[in-house]
Amino acid sequence: MRAFHPRALCLAVLALAALALEAQSSTPSLRQAFAPYFALGAAVQPVFLDSGNPRAELLAEQFGALVAENCMKPETLEAAEGVFRFKDADKIVAFAARNGMSVRGHTLVWHQQTPLWFFSDPDKPTQAASRDTLLAREKLYIQTVVGHFRGRIRAWDVVNEALNEDGSLRGPAEGSTWMGIAGPDYIDKAFVWAHEVDPDALLVINDYNLESSPAKLDGMCGLVKGLLARGIPVGAVGLQMHVSVYSPDVESVRRAIGRLSALGLKVQVTEMDMSIYRGSEAARPVTDEILADQASRYGELFTLFREEGRAGRLDMVMLWGLSDDQSWRNDFPVAGRADAPLLFDSNLRPKPAFQAVLDAAGTP
Ligand code: G3I
Repeated sequence: MRAFHPRALCLAVLALAALALEAQSSTPSLRQAFAPYFALGAAVQPVFLDSGNPRAELLAEQFGALVAENCMKPETLEAAEGVFRFKDADKIVAFAARNGMSVRGHTLVWHQQTPLWFFSDPDKPTQAASRDTLLAREKLYIQTVVGHFRGRIRAWDVVNEALNEDGSLRGPAEGSTWMGIAGPDYIDKAFVWAHEVDPDALLVINDYNLESSPAKLDGMCGLVKGLLARGIPVGAVGLQMHVSVYSPDVESVRRAIGRLSALGLKVQVTEMDMSIYRGSEAARPVTDEILADQASRYGELFTLFREEGRAGRLDMVMLWGLSDDQSWRNDFPVAGRADAPLLFDSNLRPKPAFQAVLDAAGTP
């Protein structure tokens, strides 16, 4: 066998290394691939962003936007009345600024993850707060939080999940003490108060199943038309898109984006993930076949998103997490059932869905 001169061998290895580096640097990231169409982001927990955490590097490389999965909700920011705690939220906003990423604020007014003191009489905690007391607390919370982040949050989920599945406004029977005490005014006022403090932030009303439930979509269209008619500064509707491999079909999503943007609003996909299960079916192995089906569905939805982004109707798409192991869809709705809803696996390796999404961006 012919012996290679050590110098020639060394040069060959260096050449191969250079090619590998060039190939890696030339592979566009999701962030680069979709930049012409919309900001693409992911939901994060503060710990992901610690230096030395591999998630931090992957997030900055692959995404151009961040949203706090939990630490910008009222239960964290004002756990006790008048005591605001921004430490974890500031960490996310600072990381985004260092990495040229935009930030979504999630969420100002929601019936969940809001401390019970908001709804309790200040002098008789076992009794409900008055409407005036609740609205005063809502105003203080919104204007303190939006003021703290003024100019650093591109879009705020001002009100989250205000509708029932039939399109009616969620009431006390469906968990909304906001509605029970303050009435529908809690929605209008939230947008007015947020806009007063940061007029440049895009103010979003956010909900789930709008892309799959015609009645809920009708309800959202009616709600938004009313807000606009009253001069309320709502600027976008958020489609959460907690979907599955099996539904909804692309045309339902296209229709939802079309109907909402026809009202004169931007549309954002705010919390996308894709369960490999139908509803509450029992846990099963995550096979190559189901991952291929998931990739195909992610690919067709992101092809739609690219078209809607190019048309100026869709201006942000957020995945509700980075990797499968961290997803809220593990153990929901079936305790003990692991899901696989995101683009990276629990070892931070790109899944077939990642490549399908990248391919959906097409050539720049
Ligand atoms: O912070 C406590 C911690 O102190 C405690 O030790 C631990 C014990 O279980 O619970 C921790 O709180 C958890 C919280 O996330 C923060 O991690 C709650 O139990 C848990 O229920 C909560 O789940 C979040 C869920 O909203 C609450 O409704 C999920 O992480 C989050 O992904 C999910 O996100 C929502 C969006 O905000 C709105 N749209 C739906 C979406 C999915 O439910």
